[in-house]
Amino acid sequence: TSLRYPVICIDGPSGAGKGTVTWRLSQVLGYQLLDSGALYRIVGLKAFEAGLMTADASQAIDEMAVLALTQSLEIAFVPNNESGRVDIIVNSEVVGEQVRNETVGGYASQIAVFSKVRQALLKLQQDMATRSGLVADGRDMGTVVFSDADVKVFLTASAEARAERRVTQLLNAGQTADFEAILATIKARDDRDENRSTAPSKPAKDALLLDSSHLDADAVYEQVKQYCQAQGICF
Ligand code: DC
Repeated sequence: TSLRYPVICIDGPSGAGKGTVTWRLSQVLGYQLLDSGALYRIVGLKAFEAGLMTADASQAIDEMAVLALTQSLEIAFVPNNESGRVDIIVNSEVVGEQVRNETVGGYASQIAVFSKVRQALLKLQQDMATRSGLVADGRDMGTVVFSDADVKVFLTASAEARAERRVTQLLNAGQTADFEAILATIKARDDRDENRSTAPSKPAKDALLLDSSHLDADAVYEQVKQYCQAQGICF
């Protein structure tokens, strides 16, 4: 047996509340946080900027070109003592809010179908569990990246519930929001993430399935916390 740090995987579609519960667990437990979606978002944004894809996914993408681009990126996770978060640094630049929008989410989903690109990002992700406990947020944390994790949760919510949350978020931020358009975008991204041949978004066999359609963030946190405790994680 090898001595290693505990790993908690929170997988599921975007908008189900993974980010919130992941962040809270990492704070309470003092574990590092892996936002694997941010890696795919960074590669997606760089690929778009390099002219390798169209925003509407209408054009075939050259996998080897995206792979070369991915390999050319120097990606590092650096703890930020001020924010308490882990900053992602790409080619010595801090990646911030510019990747956190639906457009870049769509770019990410387009390049995330490529197995060679996923392979190129694998070790970087696995290395994060070698220094301290880890809470990992993504699609394939429990199925591929940390298949021997201590805790696996698959957090879902109906596409309608997720679209409604997104509308509320946008309106609260003083922006406009079109429910039907948002719903369609969410469904298109789910469809691509769930039906790709490599590492499709799906629950691991030994994952806890949790539907947050009718749960608020506190209730989700409490259920995940109880499950972690039952799996031997000490709070
Ligand atoms: O979780 P997110 O919305 O930030 O992820 C953006 C996209 O990246 C998502 O639509 C699919 C892809 N992704 C992935 O394929 N595997 C992961 N572990 C995380 C994200």
